[in-house]
Amino acid sequence: MLQIHKNVSLKNFNTFGIDVSARYFVEINHEDELMELFMDPQWMNVDRLVLGGGSNLLLINNFEGLVIRINIRGIEHRINHDDVFVEAGAGEVWNDLVNYCVGWEFAGMENLSLIPGSVGASPIQNIGAYGVELKDVFHSCNAFEIASGTFKTFNKRGCKFGYRDSIFKQLKGQYIIVTVKFQLSLTPNINARYGAIEQELVNRSIVNPSIKDISQVVSHIRVSKLPDPSTIGNAGSFFKNPVISLNQFEAIVSKYPEVVHYPAGDGLVKLAAGWLIEQCGWKGKVVGNTGTWKNQALVLVNHGGATGQEIFALSSQIIDSVYTKFGVMLDREVNIIQ
Ligand code: FAD
Ligand code: EPU
Repeated sequence: MLQIHKNVSLKNFNTFGIDVSARYFVEINHEDELMELFMDPQWMNVDRLVLGGGSNLLLINNFEGLVIRINIRGIEHRINHDDVFVEAGAGEVWNDLVNYCVGWEFAGMENLSLIPGSVGASPIQNIGAYGVELKDVFHSCNAFEIASGTFKTFNKRGCKFGYRDSIFKQLKGQYIIVTVKFQLSLTPNINARYGAIEQELVNRSIVNPSIKDISQVVSHIRVSKLPDPSTIGNAGSFFKNPVISLNQFEAIVSKYPEVVHYPAGDGLVKLAAGWLIEQCGWKGKVVGNTGTWKNQALVLVNHGGATGQEIFALSSQIIDSVYTKFGVMLDREVNIIQ
């Protein structure tokens, strides 16, 4: 029998550490429980928030609807020649899955080490880091469609993955991912092209890195740059790196030749949002209980006791100042939950 709890504090369920509550809260440990939940029509008609690790959202107010916390567990794998298919429950911790794969020497996920959050949320924004995106290892996922009460499989094409984007952003709130299947390889295809990885391998005198080396190096770099949410509230990059046209880029680079940028295909250029924000004087700045991280201006932080409104207000000020200086509009990466 499902337990629906009332007036539950969400402080420990979001990495910003925002102290708001959920009117109703349910934990799902098995996919059949989703059928059971939605057999009761009252839950079709309330606001719903599907929650994994709470590491990519900003809670603005008390949530007056139902929070559905996904805790579906289990990891299994099947080897077929050089291919390895790994399937994991949506409630598994992403980094536990990475460690499982690295431990078995299944290659492909090592660059995605130490990203917080759950397996079930990983396709939502096509998580990415250090030269690899989820789509590079994704095979398919199984999701519960709330309206029909049935399960549907999405293959890689169906997910329409893009930079921090997938079909699930368009279908927001309609599907709950219950399992994700990955396709990995027994033969490593080491990706050490990211400058910081190359540098750290040199520092460690590693010439032919294993996937375990890459996992350790990536974890080391991440710890040095990003604040640990268990001590300082944050949700990683607050904004996406903006992708602009070549024309707009040329206008910017003529004025700011040192602008940090990357090719983004098809006459497009991606700018480093952290650089733009730093140039506007925000890096390490403290504003009330909020601020930006001293080592990474793209990360907004809760210095203690901040409200969601305060963090949101800071993000709006940053958007305005970057727009005023560079004419570039930053887009929030973090999901804003009103
Ligand atoms: P949540 O925050 O719980 O949810 C995020 C969104 O997904 C919400 O809209 C939620 O409703 C939805 N959702 C969650 N679970 C499900 C489900 N089972 N079915 C349907 N919808 C669901 N991200 C990167 O891409 N790269 C990084 O390098 C990175 N670094 C980070 C570093 C730090 C310190 C932090 C705090 C965050 C970082 N992030 C990064 C962001 C975050 O880790 C990812 O977005 C992660 O996938 C969020 O997982 P979660 O389970 O916490 O999702
Ligand atoms: N930079 C600055 N000042 C700053 C921050 C960055 O000048 O304060 C410049 C530097 O030149 C730096 C460059 O920006 O070399 C890139 O910075 P970094 O390597 O930290 O990466 P990022 O572009 O800021 C992206 C992702 C991260 C991911 C890293 C590593 C986005 C929005 N963010 O950050 O993902 O971990 O690359 O691949 O794409 C997240 O999504 O939450 C996240 C942390």
